[in-house]
Amino acid sequence: MPEPLHVKVFRFNPENDVAPTFDHFQVPVFDNMAILDVVMHIQNYLDRSLSFRFSCRIGMCGSCAMYVNGRARLACRTQVSSLKTRAITIMPLPNFPIIRDLVVDMEPFFDKWKKIRPYYVPKKEIDRPVTVQPDSNEREFIDDMLDCISCGCCYSACSMVATHKDYLGPAALNRAYTLIADKRDAIRVDRLKAVDRSYGVWRCHTQFNCAEVCPKNIVPTRSIQNLKRRCVLKKFGVFK
Ligand code: SF4
Ligand code: FES
Repeated sequence: MPEPLHVKVFRFNPENDVAPTFDHFQVPVFDNMAILDVVMHIQNYLDRSLSFRFSCRIGMCGSCAMYVNGRARLACRTQVSSLKTRAITIMPLPNFPIIRDLVVDMEPFFDKWKKIRPYYVPKKEIDRPVTVQPDSNEREFIDDMLDCISCGCCYSACSMVATHKDYLGPAALNRAYTLIADKRDAIRVDRLKAVDRSYGVWRCHTQFNCAEVCPKNIVPTRSIQNLKRRCVLKKFGVFK
C-alpha cells in the first residue's frame, strides 16, 4: 500500500466557532487523483460536515478554487502527484469572506464585475448582430483573455486586493479590457472612465501574481497594462 496523504484542512463555521482550526486526515491515494477527490473522500468517508464547492469537475465552472499548499488552484484540475509531497494543506481562497470551511463568499468579487458592466452593449444604429471574424487581428488580440471562468484565483493572489478593498481586481479589469477592445461596444469610453481611477487600473503594481495562478493561463496584468495605455490615449484625445 502506498503511503497515504496527510491532509490538513481548514475548518470554520462562523455560526458556532470563535476561531478557525485545522483538522487532520489520512487519505488513501490512487492514480490520477485530484485535490477534489481528496476533499470528496474526506466528506464521503471521514467527515460529512466538510463544506466545499464544485460543479463541472472539468475546469470550466470555476467553483472549486481553493488554496492548496500555499497557492490558489482549481481543485478538480490539480493532480495530487503534481504537488510532489504527501503533506497537503487545503484552505479557502484568501481575500474572500468565509462562509464555511472551504466555501467563500464570491459577492465582493462579482460586485467588482458589476461595476465594469461585464456585458456587451450594442450600438443603437446596429440592428443586427455584427460578427467579428475568428481570424481577425481584433479577435486574436483578446483571444486568451476571453477564457476567464470567474474562479477568483487571481483575485485571491492579488496583493493590491488584499490591501485595498475597493480595488476592482484583475478579473474584472481583464473583462473590462475585452469589452473596451471591442469596437462594436457602445459604451467603451464610459467603461474606460470607470477603470481610469485610483481603485481601477492605477492600483495595479504590475506584480503578475494574478497571472502566476490563473488556471486558464490568462495574464490579467497585460490587460491592465493595455487599459493604462488606452487611458493615456484618452487623455490626449486619441482614444475614441
Ligand atoms: Fe480565474 Fe484567470 Fe479569470 Fe482570474 S482571470 S478569475 S484566475 S480564470
Ligand atoms: Fe468546475 Fe473545478 S469543478 S472548475
